[in-house]
Amino acid sequence: MPGFVLVGTQWGDEGKGKITDLLADKMDMVVRYNGGDNAGHTVMPGNKEFKFHLLPSGVLYPHVTAVIANGLVVNPKVLIGEIEGLEKAGISAEKLRVSCNAHLVMPYHLMLDGAYEMHLGKSKIGTTRKGIGPAYSDKAARIGIRVQDLLDMKIFRTKLGEALKIKNAIMSTIYNLDPLDLDEVVSEYSEYAKKLEKYITDTSLLIHDFLDKGKNVFLEGAQGTFLDIDHGTYPFVTSSSPISGGACTGAGVGPRHLEEVIGVVKAYVTRVGSGPFPTEQDNENGEAMRQVGKEIGTTTGRPRRCGWFDAVLMRYATRINGLTSIIITKLDVLSQFEKLKICTGYKYKEEIFQQFPPHQTIIHKCEPVYEELRGWQEDITGSEKYKDLPLAVREYVEKIQKIAKVPMAMISVGPKRDQTILCTDVALGKL
Ligand code: GDP
Ligand code: IMO
Ligand code: MG
Repeated sequence: MPGFVLVGTQWGDEGKGKITDLLADKMDMVVRYNGGDNAGHTVMPGNKEFKFHLLPSGVLYPHVTAVIANGLVVNPKVLIGEIEGLEKAGISAEKLRVSCNAHLVMPYHLMLDGAYEMHLGKSKIGTTRKGIGPAYSDKAARIGIRVQDLLDMKIFRTKLGEALKIKNAIMSTIYNLDPLDLDEVVSEYSEYAKKLEKYITDTSLLIHDFLDKGKNVFLEGAQGTFLDIDHGTYPFVTSSSPISGGACTGAGVGPRHLEEVIGVVKAYVTRVGSGPFPTEQDNENGEAMRQVGKEIGTTTGRPRRCGWFDAVLMRYATRINGLTSIIITKLDVLSQFEKLKICTGYKYKEEIFQQFPPHQTIIHKCEPVYEELRGWQEDITGSEKYKDLPLAVREYVEKIQKIAKVPMAMISVGPKRDQTILCTDVALGKL
């Protein structure tokens, strides 16, 4: 029963989309288990670029069943747009399945996401404004509307009517926003229902069916470990569980099905939005990473904050996710530097933290302790074999692997599928 989970080990945008697309070739099913269209996963098969927000990154292969599982919050308008985009590119979405238990992002979620951020002012989280936090809040408050409600517009109307009583009161009295009209929203969502109906099913049952038949199931995480609602840099996090544990609840599978937990590790670190980032380089080094790495948000177009690789984050990601292997991405972006730095610990009041500190103040105020490594300053984007890489590259990645304490399965040296080096230390033996 081979279930593979892929997680981001930092603050998202580690290159999960590229790796999922690459590995999906050997998969029967690819499942997104958390988040919503706050995610932006870039995939480059050949010279064409696809950016997925809700669709699993394995959707390009005709043999792959693509699943949007129960752990997501789904904006139906965005999903329909993505399906139509695929079809325009000549790719069928026929094998897509959407969980009946996933929650819907509603128009008031988008409006409230913006309103909360504006009211937080300087303390804002810097959300993607896709309504993610408000949609998950309603799920927890048990006033959410689910994908299955689209299958019975009478029920949908009743639930929406209840929700609008509360939402319209909040929006108009507190945030000075125009109230929403029940009929208009019902009519808009009825159109979505007609288009999505054929994809809606019990995806947990379907996933189990695949697992029971010994098929390969790949669970693709969105966001990253430090954006996790429970284990990330709260409150500067998203509202779902991107970590490997989230794959179980988000897809409806038990932990015994998860054979491999693959951590995607960017060779440096980026972050979009607010929140602490100890190794951030708000200087020419960060700018150079941003330029060469094209570090601009896939979903919002915001410039990503960039910084040196951080061993404290890596140790935590290994532990929290129970990683079994890592894949290092965007190594080519570091080729420009004469010297490289890796943060080995956080110094705070004479104490050095090698493990992620227990109090957020320390993360905000610590001084990163760096180890300097030599750079390689050679183009590695065409490298095909691990042993052909310059010695300094191998020293750098082996340093990361020692910190992660798990085998290194692959190294990515460019955005395309073929710009990937399989390591001798392959952990994904079964593939
Ligand atoms: P995700 O959210 O984790 O899927 O990552 P994004 O797609 O948001 O951001 C990663 C960006 O880096 C995308 O534009 C990818 O095409 C690109 N990318 C992925 N791997 C590599 C790599 O090894 N080298 C370079 N230069 N770009 C890469
Ligand atoms: P992928 O899957 C990077 C960040 C936002 C913000 C915080 C909360 O592409 O790695 P939200 O809209 O979720 O309420 O915003 O989380 N964020 C991401 N950052 N990559 C992502 O997804 C992200 N999804 C959310 O920038 O700081
Ligand atoms: Mg992204």
